[in-house]
Amino acid sequence: MNIELPFNMDFIINLTYRCNLRCKMCTQYGKNYKEQAIEEMNIQDWINFLNDIKDVTPKPKLILMGGEPFLYKDFEKLFKIAVSYNLKTHIITNGYYLDKFIPILKDTDTDITISLDGLFNVHDEIRNQKNLFKKVVQNIKLIDEAQKSGSKMRMRINQVILPENVDKVADFYNYFKDYDIDTFTFQHLQSSDEELNNLTQKQWRERLGQDYCMGLIPKEKYNLNAAFANRYINATKDFIKNYSPEKCFSFPALAYEELADYYTNNNLDNLRKNMICTTAWTTPAIEPNGNVSNCIGNIIGNLKENSFWDIWNNDKAQKLRDALITDGKFTICTKCCNFYKGNFIAAPEGKLEINGYKLELPDVLNYIQSSKCVAFIRDTDREQKNEYIPVIPINIHRPQYLDFIKKENEIITIIE
Ligand SMILES: C[S@@+](CC[C@H](N)C(=O)[O-])C[C@H]1O[C@@H](n2cnc3c(N)ncnc32)[C@H](O)[C@@H]1O
Ligand code: SF4
Ligand code: SF4
Repeated sequence: MNIELPFNMDFIINLTYRCNLRCKMCTQYGKNYKEQAIEEMNIQDWINFLNDIKDVTPKPKLILMGGEPFLYKDFEKLFKIAVSYNLKTHIITNGYYLDKFIPILKDTDTDITISLDGLFNVHDEIRNQKNLFKKVVQNIKLIDEAQKSGSKMRMRINQVILPENVDKVADFYNYFKDYDIDTFTFQHLQSSDEELNNLTQKQWRERLGQDYCMGLIPKEKYNLNAAFANRYINATKDFIKNYSPEKCFSFPALAYEELADYYTNNNLDNLRKNMICTTAWTTPAIEPNGNVSNCIGNIIGNLKENSFWDIWNNDKAQKLRDALITDGKFTICTKCCNFYKGNFIAAPEGKLEINGYKLELPDVLNYIQSSKCVAFIRDTDREQKNEYIPVIPINIHRPQYLDFIKKENEIITIIE
């Protein structure tokens, strides 16, 4: 089906929830809905889905993850079909099986994010596997060699910041400085607790009339607090600013003053309080069993029962979009990494004004994509009068813009 969209779509494809590792901080295990979605679609189900989205313009990106995506039994077939359809691909992997798959990946320009949570035994202990670091670095070397022979594969490294590695981010970065790594992300732990889950359940029932179905509960309990936030600040304050923010950044790019609240789950409603996320419009996630969601907690259908576009445009999908536009974010949004990838200000009837132009929602999404800016600050004075809201685009992946985010109540000139 030919579909032209005014914005890019990224599809989060969880091919399998099986994994060869049991990392301490992972939210894929434990008490949450993933256990229910573990049954895997067969290759024909995935091909039907790819046929549905292959003629979308601009070409969508498939973010292939899981679980460990290379454990999906027909990974090779699925990947080759996606490439033959010119779909962009980005694989997120623990890196263990890369040696087996490099022959399949090397003639493509796929992005590969490799998860590494520290050097040597730091990584091995977080990921509960002896000699894992050594094995993954061997695989990084293989990609490096392929790149030197002309392969267009791109490598990225993602590290989740934990008590075990927080003081050593600079050493970690320096260890890999001679490799051709496109980006290093230091990722803040995504997690919820019973209290936040109960609150989310209540909000879901009140605003959407349904149950919240996601936990964000890590395998091991972490009690991160303001002292931990300070450790992160001390470890990064002199280090990160020496490197290009295009190459090395924390995700989400929270300001240092925001970190204590983020880690303690305090004041979450005030954290980026005027923003809402665009996931519900732009970033479908698909579970191994074919469940489709337009938000981590909102399953809207199953690919084995309906076609993708019927699901994406159904009442359940729209209900969440309406709820976000009318009443803003949910408390848990500020703990969800989707919130920080692309978001905009909730506004009356979804109308916004940018650079003097009044925009409807699809235009806003288009603007976000074309300007590569993903957040907006609003002028609360005008909002109270229910007028169109002047907004400023901020690229929140880039720490240098964070100062602007703090000026939330000022009328700010557009920067471009
Ligand atoms: C869930 S994994 C799936 C892909 C693959 N198994 C891997 O480890 O890369 C996707 C990414 O989420 C990161 N991750 C795991 N638990 C997390 C958490 N609680 N908060 C933030 N990121 C987390 C992983 O390190 C990895 O980079
Ligand atoms: S973070 Fe990735 S490798 Fe680790 S247990 Fe979770 S899914 Fe598996
Ligand atoms: S940020 Fe909020 S609305 Fe967006 S996916 Fe996460 S929980 Fe859903």
